[in-house]
Amino acid sequence: MINPDQRAAAFIPSAPPVVMDDVYTPDQIDGLLDAVRAGPPRRLLTAELFSSAEELMIATSGSVAEGVTLDQFLDPMFRGDLGQHGASFHPGADAVLYNEKLLNWARRYRKTDYVCARQLHFNVASPMKCQDPGHYDSPSFRGLSHTNTPIWLLSVMANSRLFEEYKSKLVAVVTWFWRTSDQGGFTYWPDGADKAPQRIAAPLWNRGIVAENESMFHRGESIGTPDQWGVPGLTFDSVFEGDPDSASGWRMRSGDTVIGRFATEELRWLFHWTALTFTDYQDFKRHVDHLDDLTHERVIDTLLRDLRGQGIGIATPSDPLHDEEFKMTLLRNYAIGSPKIYPPEAPVYRAAA
Ligand SMILES: [Fe+2]
Repeated sequence: MINPDQRAAAFIPSAPPVVMDDVYTPDQIDGLLDAVRAGPPRRLLTAELFSSAEELMIATSGSVAEGVTLDQFLDPMFRGDLGQHGASFHPGADAVLYNEKLLNWARRYRKTDYVCARQLHFNVASPMKCQDPGHYDSPSFRGLSHTNTPIWLLSVMANSRLFEEYKSKLVAVVTWFWRTSDQGGFTYWPDGADKAPQRIAAPLWNRGIVAENESMFHRGESIGTPDQWGVPGLTFDSVFEGDPDSASGWRMRSGDTVIGRFATEELRWLFHWTALTFTDYQDFKRHVDHLDDLTHERVIDTLLRDLRGQGIGIATPSDPLHDEEFKMTLLRNYAIGSPKIYPPEAPVYRAAA
C-alpha cells in the first residue's frame, strides 16, 4: 500500500526545469496587459477552480482535514484565460500564444518536434500570504480534461498513477512579473516532494521557468510583508478588472463597491503559457483521432479494481461523478502528501481548522 508521502515523492518531471530571462518583448508584455484589460471581470482563482475546501485541499496536496472551509482560503488572487485549446481570445495575446521561441523551448524540453500551442492564462494578486503547501497543476489525459471532468477526479487519477500512459505531455512556460518587493518568488520541487526545493527569488520581472507543472510540486510564495497582506472587503464574488478611470490602472470590486485600486507594478503577475507535445506522429494521431481515449467509465472501473485489489470493499456507484460518499472514498484513498522542506525565507501558512 502506497502512503500519501510516497505518492508525493513520485512527482518528478521528465526533465529538469529551465529558468529563462527576458521571456517576452516589451510589445508582447503590452499585448498581454491589453488582452487582460479587454477581457471580462476576472474571478478569484479559488472561486473559479473549487467548489469546496475538500476539492481545494486534494488539489493543493493537503490532506482533507475536518472543519476547514473555503473561507480560510480567501486571498486576493484572480485568474483569467487569454487562450484555450489553441484559440487566442484577443489579438494582444497572439504574439505570446503562438510564440516561436516558446514553441522551440517546449520542443527542446520534451525532445520532440511535435508541438501545439494550447493555453494562455494569467494569475494576478496583490500582497497576500501563501497558504499553498505546494501543488501540481491539474493534468489532462487523452479524452479527459478539466472541460469534461471534475478537477477532483483528475487529481485522483494523477495521484493514483494508474493513468500515466494517457497523461497529456504538456510543457509550461510560467513567467513572473513582481519587482516591488523581495517577498513573492516561486518555489519548486524538481526532485520530488520529499527532497529540498529550488527557488526563483523575488524581485523578478519577465523571468520564466520552462517546466512540467503537472508532474512537479510548486507554489507562488507569500507576496509582500504581513502588514501589506489582504484586501478589506474581499469576498468570493469579488472581481478584478481594468480601472475605467485610469488607462493603465486596475481595480478589485465587490459588487458595486471598489475595494482596491492598483498600478501594474503593485500586483504580482504570472502569465502561464502551455504547449501540448507529442512523442511522434503516431502519438499525435492517437491524440487527435481519439484512437485510445479514456472515458469516465474506464477510469472508474480501473479505480474500483485498484481499490478492491487493496482489500477495500466498495460498492459500484450508480452515478460516480455525483456520489459524495464515493468521491470522499477516492479522495481519502488516493490522498497525496505535501513537500517537507521549504526555503527558510518563504515559509508556508497552513489553514487551521
Ligand atoms: Fe501551479
